[in-house]
Amino acid sequence: MTDGQLSHATKAALSERVKELTCLYGIAQIAGEPDISLEEVLQRIVELLPPAWQYPDIAVARITLDGIAYLTPGFRDCNVTQTAEIIVDGASRGVVEVVYIEERPDLDEGPFLKEERSLINAVAGQIALVIERRQAEEDKLKLYAQLRHADRLATIGMLAAGVAHELNEPLGNILGFAQLAKKCPGVPVSAKEDIEKIEVASLQARDIIQKLLVFSRQRQPKKIRVNLNQILQDSLFFFEARCAKEGVELIRILSSDLPEITADPAQLSQVIVNLVVNALQSVCGTGRIRIETRFCDNSVQLIVADTGVGMSEKLLEQIFIPFFTTKDVGQGTGLGLPVVHGIVTAHGGSIDVKSKVGHGTRFEIRFPINKPQDTEESD
Ligand SMILES: Nc1ncnc2c1ncn2[C@@H]1O[C@H](COP(=O)(O)OP(=O)(O)OP(=O)(O)O)[C@@H](O)[C@H]1O
Ligand SMILES: [Mg+2]
Repeated sequence: MTDGQLSHATKAALSERVKELTCLYGIAQIAGEPDISLEEVLQRIVELLPPAWQYPDIAVARITLDGIAYLTPGFRDCNVTQTAEIIVDGASRGVVEVVYIEERPDLDEGPFLKEERSLINAVAGQIALVIERRQAEEDKLKLYAQLRHADRLATIGMLAAGVAHELNEPLGNILGFAQLAKKCPGVPVSAKEDIEKIEVASLQARDIIQKLLVFSRQRQPKKIRVNLNQILQDSLFFFEARCAKEGVELIRILSSDLPEITADPAQLSQVIVNLVVNALQSVCGTGRIRIETRFCDNSVQLIVADTGVGMSEKLLEQIFIPFFTTKDVGQGTGLGLPVVHGIVTAHGGSIDVKSKVGHGTRFEIRFPINKPQDTEESD
């Protein structure tokens, strides 16, 4: 080998190295750009690949992530291909491919160089890093949103509790004096009817106050050891006839090995009733309601899913706020879900809601078991 040939080979190797570094540098720059979508990141990365390979004129590339492909112009499947998997958190999410659309003499890996193998692996690794970073950011934002939501609900809860306490006393007086007035000798029939209306309205107001107190967790649950399946069976009994009449299918999938939890049975029943009533109202006569219990991750889960109207993101953000309702006057007070929230939180549980407009809604409630504070309380 002559000096001239050697320097040519060295030059070629150097130029390949520069191409690789340019590609990796380009990727790092794209990954660091704020405010661009993952789709755009992948599209721009895929376009950096062909120029970094030895035969750019016949090279095309494709990045596939979660089944969605990002291609360079003229991409077509060919046998001459080099690929690397995109592994995120130990799971394969897709693949990076560089394809030569014409044959070339064999080198280290078919017509590809061993440096190109390292490069494609590095590209797949960089893409995985970008995805991991984005997921971490999304999780953080989600957590912030949840905290803000919880904070807002706690503030509303305190306010609601204050109002409820303040109203309780005058309301008790209204009800008490109305009942006394009704018993007064010589009260005309028409006045008696009016007093009865006062009584009914006061009882409704008292009911609302009770619900506000449950939401703001001023009502301590009376906990005993209970089996959620049993409470479900008892609570659903009252819905069977109504579902059958309205043509709604009520499906139960109850876990056979559900452990007992320490909970207030009346409050659990209230949770079930409120969720099932909402589901029934959302399916409007045709559809399915699925009620499921599970034992998973050291918690007892209750799932109520319907094939009803579903909810938008915006609506979902408001459903636990007292008096928020989309229903007509007389149809709903907007206290069903705040009550569910109050009860579940008082039991150390959590609620997860997924919904899609036009498709339905799924409430997943988790009650922890074996928690130290989960002790029984006596009356
Ligand atoms: N399963 C569901 N499908 C679609 N929307 C729902 C569902 N559950 C609740 N919602 C929405 O959330 C709102 C609040 O529900 P919530 O149960 O708190 O009050 P409500 O049903 O309107 O009244 P109340 O329960 O006091 O009679 C509802 O008005 C409705 O818009
Ligand atoms: Mg409701």
